[in-house]
Amino acid sequence: MSVILLGGSPSPQSSCNRLLQHIGDKLTLHGHPSTRIDVRELPAQALLRADTCEPGVARAVTLVREADAIVIATPVYKASYTGVLKLFLDLLPQDGLAGKLVLPVATGGSQSHVLALDYALRPVLSSMAARFILPSIYATSEQVAAGIGCGLRLAPPVAARVAQGVEQLAAELQLLGERAEQEEDLFEAPFAA
Ligand SMILES: Cc1cc2nc3c(=O)[nH]c(=O)nc-3n(C[C@H](O)[C@H](O)[C@H](O)COP(=O)(O)O)c2cc1C
Repeated sequence: MSVILLGGSPSPQSSCNRLLQHIGDKLTLHGHPSTRIDVRELPAQALLRADTCEPGVARAVTLVREADAIVIATPVYKASYTGVLKLFLDLLPQDGLAGKLVLPVATGGSQSHVLALDYALRPVLSSMAARFILPSIYATSEQVAAGIGCGLRLAPPVAARVAQGVEQLAAELQLLGERAEQEEDLFEAPFAA
């Protein structure tokens, strides 16, 4: 099962990206390693011109196409997700999330826009035919403080929400894998005897 961590923050010192990596690390502990795409690292001109032939952009689009699950993280900007993230989502086909599990994650300056993922990003993910959009994870920057070294100090409610989200995603990935195996067996069965 292939998992993508999609980072939508333009900021180099990003609390949102730290939270995303933390979720990726937890998923690895559940047996699901991930590959990271940070939109801010993709060539800006290719993004602005929707140039899907540019090698870096083409690779990122392919990684998303081949993924079983995507954790999409964005800071809240102007009560919505970032423009940087939208630039990348607009490069994907209209059904670019078909068959995929999606876990939306956001950080914001306060709790005022706790629903931003649900009213802004979730409709976009639905329109792109995501198979299952898991309940969102939201934290304020203060709840995602940098710890010692590269670690994170999560506020207890956020830590609980992250643990729940990771467990749910891992369980869904497990089910997806089992279903894929069953389908493979069914496909092979007529030729078995
Ligand atoms: C341009 C801009 C717009 C923002 N708009 C909002 C907003 O509407 N609501 C909010 O709660 N926080 C807002 N913030 C604060 C960020 O969401 C918050 O600091 C976030 O954790 C930053 O994540 P980052 O460290 O990954 O960049 C805004 C920050 C910036 C830079």
